[in-house]
Amino acid sequence: MAFFTCIIQKMGNLVHKLLTMGLEHKKILIAVTGGIAAYKINFLIRDFIKKGAEVQVIMTPSALNFASALTFSTLSKNPVFSDFYGVNGTWNNHVELALWADVMIVAPCTANTLAKMVHGQCDNLVIATFLSAKCPVFIAPAMDLDMYAHPSTRQNLEMAEDYGHFIIPAEEGELASGLVGQGRMAEPGTIVKEVEDYLDSGKQSRNFAGKTILITAGPTFEAIDPVRYIGNHSSGKMGFALAEEAAKRGARVILISGPSSLQTQNKNIELHRVTSAKEMFEEVFRYYEGVDVAIASAAVADYAPKDVALEKIKKNEDNLTIELVKNPDILGTMGERKTRQFLVGFALETQNEEVNAKSKLEKKNLDMIVLNSLRDEGAGFQKDTNRIKILTADAMEEFELKSKEAVAQDILDFVEKKTLK
Ligand code: CTP
Repeated sequence: MAFFTCIIQKMGNLVHKLLTMGLEHKKILIAVTGGIAAYKINFLIRDFIKKGAEVQVIMTPSALNFASALTFSTLSKNPVFSDFYGVNGTWNNHVELALWADVMIVAPCTANTLAKMVHGQCDNLVIATFLSAKCPVFIAPAMDLDMYAHPSTRQNLEMAEDYGHFIIPAEEGELASGLVGQGRMAEPGTIVKEVEDYLDSGKQSRNFAGKTILITAGPTFEAIDPVRYIGNHSSGKMGFALAEEAAKRGARVILISGPSSLQTQNKNIELHRVTSAKEMFEEVFRYYEGVDVAIASAAVADYAPKDVALEKIKKNEDNLTIELVKNPDILGTMGERKTRQFLVGFALETQNEEVNAKSKLEKKNLDMIVLNSLRDEGAGFQKDTNRIKILTADAMEEFELKSKEAVAQDILDFVEKKTLK
């Protein structure tokens, strides 16, 4: 009997989980401010409702000049508020609205509203609701390109991010002024996807807000001649997954990658592409001093040809000998120059794995090392999965075979535990 009760309970939990996945039954509060992109909010409401969300809309007084409260109300099937008081002296309770929401989205967010939000200048219902909100807040700025590029707007966006809000960057294109550049509000589809991804990720901490994390990724290629190189099969997947996850948690990410076909659209990831170990070394130490956490996931070639032939080497001889010299140890040097950085290395071992990883941890002055073994099927270069152990000076934790995205979460959970008190 107890067995069946347990099964039924588990099924109930699963059904509940499925029902509450993504946007289903989520309460979305959209705050519309006075920009031409306000007309796109019709589509935003429609898209959220299509996905099963419940939507309420509030507007600033100037938004009323650009869009119709009646349309928003009809689409959302809820009243739309733009003032603290309704007809007959009723109070539009901004605190209740703020607490109702699972997610608040300010879209389009003008330069004026953005400035008021970060400085707490509470002169309308939208700002009062925003200041009362305990839920995650997404901001989709929209303005003319020069306003968007202005240092004060940039600073306000950074401040909003430092407060833990999510910025959905403006897109490039033709603007209401007729100029072309970055400033258009992100498309409704993009906004819905950002919110959906956030709700699906299950990892909703912004614990790295205000922190800078440097990550090395991918292989390095060491030139032999103008057309050949020594390299390895690293795809960069682990490093890029770490970068995405760190950015999701609010960090400014400096991603220094060797040759990799991977891309990132994340505006919190500064991607620097390099080719050789020497270039990676130089790029790393342009930033290292100012970072809080450094994670070396790159598969750096240990050796490089001593001399690079200026012309393509012809196959005139039966044997070819290339003299190799040791590359700089980037992670080792980070360990030597460590001041306040939390330093994470990777170890790929085929024998005496834990002992070797532990000795690398000490030798390179690391705070933590991620061990992956080539003996594990599904782990390693070019794979989408990885199986790791994390070692510190006094602890070890073992993880299951997981996607590299899930591994990135485990690694950053560990870093969070160790660095954030
Ligand atoms: N690493 C680095 N620079 C190098 C070599 C390695 O930054 N020139 C980093 C890697 O990114 C990884 C860690 O050092 O985080 C371990 O690399 P690995 O090649 O396994 O270790 P080595 O110290 O080179 O030792 P060995 O190859 O002898 O195992």
